[in-house]
Formats: sequence, C-alpha cells, structure tokens
Amino acid sequence: MPLWVYIVCVMLICACAALWSYERRVRSVFKGIPTLPPLPIIGNIHQVLGDGRVLFRLLKSVAEICDTNNSPCIAWLGLYPIFITHDPEDVKVITNSCVEKPFLYNFGRVWLGHGLVTAPAAVWKHNIKKLSGTFTSSVVDGYLGVFNAQAEKLVAGLKTEVGKEPFDIINKYLAYTTLEAICQTALGVSKISESIVTSEYYEAFNRCLELLTARGLNVFLYPDVIYRLTPAHREIKRCVAIIHNVSETVMKKRKLEREEKKKRNKTKNENNGEEPRFKAFLDILMELSELDPSLTEQQIKSEVDTIIVGGQETVASTILFTLLMIGCKPGIQNKMYDEMRRIFGDSKRPVRKEDLSEMKYCEAVIYETLRLYPPVPGVMRYSDRDLQLKSCKIPKGTVCGISGWGAGRSTRTWGPDAALYRPERWLSDTPPGNPAGFLAFSYGRRACIGKKYAMAILKTILAHCLRELEFVSQADNMQMKIDIALRPISGHLIQVRQRIDDKMKNHPNTVLHSGGVDIRGLLLRVPDIHGVVRVLPMCGDRRPVGRHHYLLTRLLQRDRNC
Ligand code: HEM
Repeated sequence: MPLWVYIVCVMLICACAALWSYERRVRSVFKGIPTLPPLPIIGNIHQVLGDGRVLFRLLKSVAEICDTNNSPCIAWLGLYPIFITHDPEDVKVITNSCVEKPFLYNFGRVWLGHGLVTAPAAVWKHNIKKLSGTFTSSVVDGYLGVFNAQAEKLVAGLKTEVGKEPFDIINKYLAYTTLEAICQTALGVSKISESIVTSEYYEAFNRCLELLTARGLNVFLYPDVIYRLTPAHREIKRCVAIIHNVSETVMKKRKLEREEKKKRNKTKNENNGEEPRFKAFLDILMELSELDPSLTEQQIKSEVDTIIVGGQETVASTILFTLLMIGCKPGIQNKMYDEMRRIFGDSKRPVRKEDLSEMKYCEAVIYETLRLYPPVPGVMRYSDRDLQLKSCKIPKGTVCGISGWGAGRSTRTWGPDAALYRPERWLSDTPPGNPAGFLAFSYGRRACIGKKYAMAILKTILAHCLRELEFVSQADNMQMKIDIALRPISGHLIQVRQRIDDKMKNHPNTVLHSGGVDIRGLLLRVPDIHGVVRVLPMCGDRRPVGRHHYLLTRLLQRDRNC
C-alpha cells in the first residue's frame, strides 16, 4: 500500500478521535438533562430534515419530554446544542436576560433587514426605545375603520360559501383579509377602499415564507455561501424585490405628501381629512425619523416589512384556529353569539372601540385558542452570558428554544384539564396559570409589540363573522405543521351557515330551539345540549325535535313544499 494511503488513514483516524473526544466534552456539559436520542456527530439533524410536519412532531415530543420530566430538554444540531424549555421560571430568566437571537433569524434579513424581529441585539436595543410605544390604544383605535372594512369584505365573501362544501378558509379568505388590513395600517392609504395587496404581492409574500421555512429545515443550506448558489436564493430575491417595491413606492409617495403638507404648513389631518385619527405605522416612523436621523429610510422600510410579516400570518391563523374550535363546539359559539347580540343587538354596524372592551367572552375564546394553538409555537434566544436556571446552569453561547406550544399545554401550569378547550378559565378574577406560562405573544424583553393591535383586529373580525354567520368544523383530529407559523394540514376545513336573524326568529310561523339552526333540503341540523349536531328529517306539522328542541315552521314547509 503506498505511503500516502497510510498517511491519509492515520489522519482520518486522528480526526475521528478528536471529533469523538470533542463530542463527549460538548455533550457532557448538558449531562443529566433529557435529550432526544442523538446519533454520533450528527445528533438529531436527521430528525429535523424534512418539512414542517416533521418539525411539528419534534416540537410536540420535546414538549412531552419536558412536561413528563419537569425538566428542560436538549436537541442536537450536530454538535450544536439547542436547549429547550417551557418552564415559566426558566422562561422568565431567559427572556429577561437574553435579547440576542441565534443565527437562524439571520435568514430573514434578506427580507426584513434589521427590523425588530431579526435585528441583532445592539440595533434592537436602540430601536425598541422608539418603537415600543407605537401601537398605543389611540393609534389602534384609529385603525378600526380599516379593520371594519376588511371584516365586511370577508363576511361578504364567506356568504357566498353558505350551504356549500367545506373549504379552506385561511387560503381562500383569511390570509388575504389580514394581509390587506395590515398593509393598509402599516403603509397607509388615502382611502380605506383602496387595495395594496395585488395577487403578485400576495404570491411573493407566501413564497418568501415557504422559502425561509425550507431553508430553516435544511441544515445544508445554512451557510450563506452555499445558499447563494441555489435557485431558492434567486427566487427569494425576486419575491423580496416585489414586496420591497410596494413599500418603497408607498414610502416615496408618503414622503412627498408630507413635504407638500409642511410647505402648506398644514400638519394636522394627515389622511386627507377622511379618517382624522388614522395614522399609518409608516407615518409614525417618518415623524420619529424627523426627530432622530438614526432612523434611516432603509431602517423604516425594514420595520414596516417586519410589522406586516409579524402581524399577517399570526392574526390569520388565530382567526382560523378560533373558527375551527368554535365550529366543533356549538355551545361556545352560541355564547359568543349571545355576547355579540348583547353588544350589537340586531345591528350590523361597524365595531367601535367601546365594543372591544365589552367582548369579554370573545377575548377569553381568543386567549384559549392562543394557549392551545400559538401561531408562533416557539421562539429562540442566544445566551450571551452564563445563566443560572431553576434546574441547571447553561453556559454562554447556548441557543435557547422556548416552546410556546409546550407552555400552553403543560399540565403543571394549567392543571389536569390543560388539553381541554375551556375559555371560561380566562374569566375568573385572577388570571389562570402563570403569566410566563402563556407564551403566545412571547414573554419578557423582545415580546410582541402588536398585542393590542392583534386583539383589536381579532375581535373586530370575529364580531362581524359571528353576527351573521355560523361556523361548522370537524377539528377534533387536526394534523399540523410549522411553516414559520403553526398551520393545520388536515381536519381544518370549515362550513358556513347563514345565521337566522331576528326577523325570521320573530316570524309568527317560526318556533326556534335553543341552539342554532340550519335547514338543508328536508334535513334539519340541530346541536343538542351536549353540542352534538343531530340531523333530523323535517316533515309535517309542529312537533318536538329531540328532547330539547322545537323547530317547525309553516314557513319552511312553504319554502320546501313539504
Ligand atoms: C395573534 C397575533 C400575534 C401573535 C400570536 C404574535 C406573536 C409574537 C411572538 C411570539 C413574538 C416574538 C417573536 C420572537 O421572539 O421571535 C412577536 C414579536 C413581534 N410581533 Fe407579534 N404577534 C401577533 C401579532 C402581531 C401584530 C398584529 C403585530 C404588528 C402589527 C406584531 C408585531 C410584532 C413585532 C414587531 C415583534 C418583534 C418584537 C421585538 O423583537 O421587539 N405582532 N409576536
């Protein structure tokens, strides 16, 4: 055998020995902490490769390991440890001490630059001081006009689905509605009926999210030098250019408008007098930049894009999961409807700011949805110092994963009925669980700054939907994936029914049961007191339907020639 072969063999053996000894050393730092069983050298990389479904299964099993052992858990990206926890005490320490984010967030910078979500700690610290107070109650109240207009459009679209087969509400309606609302409030438009979201913009936006998720799930694409050589990189650049083009065009227009206004010395009434209180996020940033030149045009663009991404997907999936939950729990849906009737009566008027604080049950439903289905099921931090946690110490340089999914389902925090969808738990005087055990909006420093905004748009859209429509789902066995946000992949279709309004209810020929009604052909679907939908044949004159419900109408007989 030639000498060089010996030399290569010896070098390989030495390299393996060095790697093995390094691996033992690295892994021993987290000795005693439960771990996903790692393979030599590659750790758990093989369990991450795949798509969002794989990632979701992984998140679920890690949450179970943490809850069963009352301990954090380690996953290994090769020799790189990811420390995962949802323990409220650990969460408090990590989120209050660490504001740096790990390298995975850098992938988003091609789109969001140094906006709040993807900014390195130094930039974030500088910008958050200016931006943390942006979405105050009065700013969000000014957005109600946009929210109402978009909600009305949504309901008009949903009405065309009444009586039809179950459909995919998020892709057909919700994603578009929320994107339009958020773009309008972030960028500002002179008339709320104007549309920013073209189909090209919408497709580019979705494709960017897909491409970013795909990169996050493929460790081989992590190094920039490799990623830049792939077609995915060219595609994401193309999509980002389409999205940036919209924000840049609007920014230029707004800048000119502001300069003209200044010249005319008319600084009040920014929105052409149409919605005096409406102040787009972009306008707020432009005002700030006049006081603080360090807020450059590039930075403003990144912040605006960040707001759009941060708000769109999260709000759309919260509405989706809420409709899915109440769609298979008619008792809860009826309570929401009753609350809407108490607030709005028969009226289909726009939602006002006073209404929002009245929607207590609706709020509880939203929180319960976010507890069980957090749209951002996990966030990450990079520890730039050693941290002493409840059960262990983690060294400087560790990537920490905080599981919102695990936190919301932890029996240790929420009790034995943690898995049960029970909005009432939010209605007691003392908030349930531990504040650091509800992580839908994250916790501590770098938590969501859009919570007020989110609650306002969610309540407005749900109010419009529930006043006029009834939702039916079979979401008991939903399958899920994580595509940046949590998304259902099956069991998520929805059917829509027209609510029987009061005119029909009060019709002398109508007798109503206690739940909702839906009449199709000769069948009557009624939820009984347990919420089980029963399908009953309808024919003949007034007669009891089931034990609790009566519905027989000569009106129906006439309509159906029964
Ligand atoms: C139900 C809706 C929402 C949920 C569940 C949600 C959740 C979150 C979470 C978990 C984070 C932390 C992300 C991380 O650390 O990686 C976050 C950050 C953020 N969210 Fe939200 N969000 C929602 C709505 C919104 C809305 C409507 C806006 C803006 C209009 C918004 C703007 C932001 C921004 C700017 C950040 C970055 C904060 C920072 O790093 O300082 N979010 N959000």
